[in-house]
Amino acid sequence: MSEVDAGGMPGPPIEANEAIEAVELTKMWSPTAGLRPVSLTVAAGEMVVVRGRSGSGKSTLLALLAGLCRPDGGSARVAGAAPTGDTPWAKVALVPQVLGMAVELSIRENIVDAAAGRPDEARLAGLLERLDVAPFAGRRLGEVSMGQQQRAAVARALVQVPTVLLVDEPTSFQDGRHADGVVAELHRSAAAGAAVLVATHDPIVVAAADRVLDLQAV
Ligand SMILES: Nc1ncnc2c1ncn2[C@@H]1O[C@H](COP(=O)(O)OP(=O)(O)O)[C@@H](O)[C@H]1O
Ligand SMILES: [Mg+2]
Repeated sequence: MSEVDAGGMPGPPIEANEAIEAVELTKMWSPTAGLRPVSLTVAAGEMVVVRGRSGSGKSTLLALLAGLCRPDGGSARVAGAAPTGDTPWAKVALVPQVLGMAVELSIRENIVDAAAGRPDEARLAGLLERLDVAPFAGRRLGEVSMGQQQRAAVARALVQVPTVLLVDEPTSFQDGRHADGVVAELHRSAAAGAAVLVATHDPIVVAAADRVLDLQAV
């Protein structure tokens, strides 16, 4: 057991073996917008869905866990540490809702970058094939569709098996066949030991989850 704290306030004890743990984590961007306090755990090998209406704080929750913004209250531990924005992809990988690929690089270069330029080539080839990214991997960002870009963002997060995988609406631009492919890769990474947390309201993704957490609208 270990104590974590947010802003000097002692938090409740947290089990050290959970890959993602949040206790009463909250961030309000304004009095009426943000994430109400939420507590959750995701263990290694588990795929958990966070579901909630648009504006309920799903992306804010993932940004907090990725260390991209600071909470107003509560505490979190992700892959054994308090979230920081500079954790290596091998520990904490993110598929953001806004996909965040570099425009000057090819799709393949974007993906390889997440493995610090040294991907496992066999793993990478399989991933690109199964996600149907291979046909456009040599193109730049401006030359691919949003759906293609989104699958590339999934490949980027999974070019290594991360300890923690945070995924924001990963099927929002996919047709049914490609959505199934994305879900299969999320499952595969959980089976390989990742703790997977997915924000979504897509029934295809929800059906594949081990557990579903419903966020209350603010
Ligand atoms: N950076 C920000 N600045 C101000 N308000 C924000 C910011 N990010 C999100 N919000 C607001 O917080 C609420 C929750 O947003 P978000 O976490 O994106 O919800 P969801 O992902 O569930 O749609 C929304 O009302 C949104 O407009
Ligand atoms: Mg969102």
